[in-house]
Amino acid sequence: MAKVPKILGVIGPKGGVGKTTISANLAVALTRAGADVVAMDLDLGSANLHVVFGIKTVRHTLDDFLVNKVASLDEVVLETAVPGLRLIAGGNVPGIASLPYQRKVKLLRHLRKLDCDFLLLDLAAGVANNVVDFALIAQKSLLVTTPDVPSLMSLYSFLKTSVYRRLQLLFKSSGDAELQALLENAGDAEAHPELKTMADFSRQAALLNPELAERGARILARFDPLILVNRVRTASDMKAGQAISNLMDQFLGLHRGEILSIHEDAAVGMAAARMQPVLLGAPNCAFARDMQRLVQALGVRS
Ligand SMILES: Nc1ncnc2c1ncn2[C@@H]1O[C@H](COP(=O)(O)OP(=O)(O)OP(=O)(O)O)[C@@H](O)[C@H]1O
Ligand SMILES: [Mg+2]
Repeated sequence: MAKVPKILGVIGPKGGVGKTTISANLAVALTRAGADVVAMDLDLGSANLHVVFGIKTVRHTLDDFLVNKVASLDEVVLETAVPGLRLIAGGNVPGIASLPYQRKVKLLRHLRKLDCDFLLLDLAAGVANNVVDFALIAQKSLLVTTPDVPSLMSLYSFLKTSVYRRLQLLFKSSGDAELQALLENAGDAEAHPELKTMADFSRQAALLNPELAERGARILARFDPLILVNRVRTASDMKAGQAISNLMDQFLGLHRGEILSIHEDAAVGMAAARMQPVLLGAPNCAFARDMQRLVQALGVRS
């Protein structure tokens, strides 16, 4: 029987924090634990996941499927040199980065049919709807940040946007204009200090539509992202994730975030220069061991 993939979204709203590096190496680490993996480049417009694997030219990219050049997603799946690991490369079709919602739904339908244990999505930086919507299709979000304040702040903004987007989609599809308006007000904390936290919002929402407010609360209660603090060098870097986790708890009503640190490791840069995931050439380096811990944190046992 065909497998149904578990979808992992590798998300990092700040550019250059390590999404692609982690996607590629986590993909390799998962295959080492015996899983069949497809890694997919969803950084539409500036795709580079295939480059990390030393693949310079590709016959078909995801764009070919999105613009209906090929009929099936299987046609854009590439084999790699790593047993058990396949790749869907991104392309560079102009305008593709703002994909209409229907196209995303179609893509999702096809993604669920890929025959593998894990589908890893390497997402673009930023908080555009495209990124947020693709992040929503992942069953597990891996949120990548570096320990510096700008990166932590973009991660927090992203989380806030994605909480609002989840609720907005729910209230819209339920046709509740009052809750939609209340949510919009909650997004403007300066004008509406009475709706500063998600708990404030939930209380007000429950007065307007208790059943729908409860459904919204359940959606948020299920959200259990894993925060990856990448390029950690010092003991104080190690604590950076906790700050975000506290903000999530206090303001966004997200109580289930887990944190994992990933070391800064010179072997990563050297492997990148060779166009090879570091796990292949240096399987015992600090970064590789962190990837193994990540695999364990995802509940995969080899
Ligand atoms: N733990 C690490 N130790 C050392 N170097 C790292 C580490 N993680 C990432 N890098 C380096 O940081 C740079 C950016 O990494 P990467 O391309 O994976 O980021 P990204 O988040 O995918 O960027 P973009 O937002 O542009 O897609 C690369 O040169 C990579 O080799
Ligand atoms: Mg990238």
